[in-house]
Amino acid sequence: MTAVPDPWSDLATLSLRVATMRELFAGDASRPPKHTVEAAGLVLDASKNRIDDGLLASLFSLARGAGVEARRDAMFAGDKVNVTEQRAALHVALRAPRDAVFRVDGRNVTPDIHAVLDHMEEFSEQVRSGSWTGHQGDAITDVIHIGIGGSDLGPRFVCAALSSYRHERLSLHFVANVDAHALDGVLADIANPLNPATTLFIIASKTFTTAETMMNARSARAWAVAGGVPESKLHRHFVAVSTNTDAVRAFGIDTKNMFEFWDWVGGRYSLWSAIGLPIALSCGMARFRELLAGAHAMDVHFATTPLESNMPVRLALVGILNANVLGARSVCVAPYHQHLELLPAHLQQLEMESNGKSVTLDGAPVARATVPVLWGQPGTNAQHAYFQCLHQGSEWAPIDFIAVIEPAHAHLEHQRALLANCFAQSEALMNGKTEGQARAELIAAGASAAEAARLAPHKTFPGNRPSNTIVMQRLDPASLGALIALYEHKVLVQGSIWNVDSFDQWGVELGKVLAKTIVDELEKGTSGTHDASTQALIERARNPSPPPPSP
Ligand code: F6P
Repeated sequence: MTAVPDPWSDLATLSLRVATMRELFAGDASRPPKHTVEAAGLVLDASKNRIDDGLLASLFSLARGAGVEARRDAMFAGDKVNVTEQRAALHVALRAPRDAVFRVDGRNVTPDIHAVLDHMEEFSEQVRSGSWTGHQGDAITDVIHIGIGGSDLGPRFVCAALSSYRHERLSLHFVANVDAHALDGVLADIANPLNPATTLFIIASKTFTTAETMMNARSARAWAVAGGVPESKLHRHFVAVSTNTDAVRAFGIDTKNMFEFWDWVGGRYSLWSAIGLPIALSCGMARFRELLAGAHAMDVHFATTPLESNMPVRLALVGILNANVLGARSVCVAPYHQHLELLPAHLQQLEMESNGKSVTLDGAPVARATVPVLWGQPGTNAQHAYFQCLHQGSEWAPIDFIAVIEPAHAHLEHQRALLANCFAQSEALMNGKTEGQARAELIAAGASAAEAARLAPHKTFPGNRPSNTIVMQRLDPASLGALIALYEHKVLVQGSIWNVDSFDQWGVELGKVLAKTIVDELEKGTSGTHDASTQALIERARNPSPPPPSP
């Protein structure tokens, strides 16, 4: 009887035999090009991973066996890849050219997409030029985008990332949290008081029922009215982005000022839709279209390139190796560009809401760990926070370094220092420093043999710690679009291998339902049926002075 090949057991066996990265580099001059892929203006150098030819081949077998190509093609074909909600996940259609054909239930959705893009163009040009005015005829100066989750993180991140392109008159603000410190922080900022007559609100919610967004929207409307905007002129100050026309109308927003999107756009994949309206307002529609074009270039690459030279596939497979074979429990993202500060936050939702699942498409328990926790901060700040642990801690985490070659400023000395730090970190993580090297350095610096022996263990670095480096020539709309699309497709590839539904998010529902009950109890003082801890917390919140501790 011939044994059925099992790529997981091959990977486990091969990983025990893989040489250290130092040895792999020393033994193979072709290693960097073999593990470097270029696409859509990005370069991925994945050579600093604990991977050799055998492991790489097994990872490709794993991907093929898991049906990655079929799942990818099904997504592009508009199939209902979101099986628990019976929906397509066609964010790729949002960034395709006007003549592309993408069908949902047999209907080509491209004309609808471009009609909304054209509406966004018309509106954003009016606001930017000053011809869209508030109720007193003044140009808009402040745009407040109210939304949460995918209706916030994407546009918030992209507006920050492209802040070099921002309109000089318009200030963009984002409010997500139901904690009114967020809303007040914008509306009642004493250092920068807002004028309701020149403020425009975008209420962004796919469902237009999300509790946080609707509460913030109601408070914003009350602020505008209290600040002198007549009810009859609110349409000059409130626009909506949603799939839910009835709810937008019921809120009092003129549906002429509604920008539609569709249920086949997942929240965390929605910045390419009208959810990206703040990006168009801040940077201009031409830049927004460049962002879409950059993402589309990555889509074409992902859809048409063999797995071996497919960037999202390579990024995903190295992630699978680190998480499922080598046992990494988290992933760190370190963008070496201050304007990418919010990239980790965006990727947290993208990766963890998409693949933070424990059952397969059929509802059976998944066989292995799914998405690792993702976290990070920009370099070099991160180096002075937690890189100590990444270099010498007992816990290790693979890191995605993002390096941007050309800055948007003229301080070339700073830029050299920034890039030097980025490259030095991955080199140090890979090579480490042996105890012998540490001891020799101490002695060369004048330490006694005893002192060198005492300190050397503290100055030893284990090394062999993996990282990827993604290089962008500059942080422009097109390369940013490609970068985000790269991670979106990484999610699809990993979700296919874990065989989970990457497009639903049932895990956020239970807490929402319980919160509704507790809100009532906090307001009315009624009691519910809770565990003793939750009940005590509710009572503490209801009671202005906390009860004395029980004996
Ligand atoms: O967090 C759950 C979630 O459904 C996200 O997926 C979504 O992006 C967010 O809430 C906001 O939803 P909506 O756009 O419907 O307000």
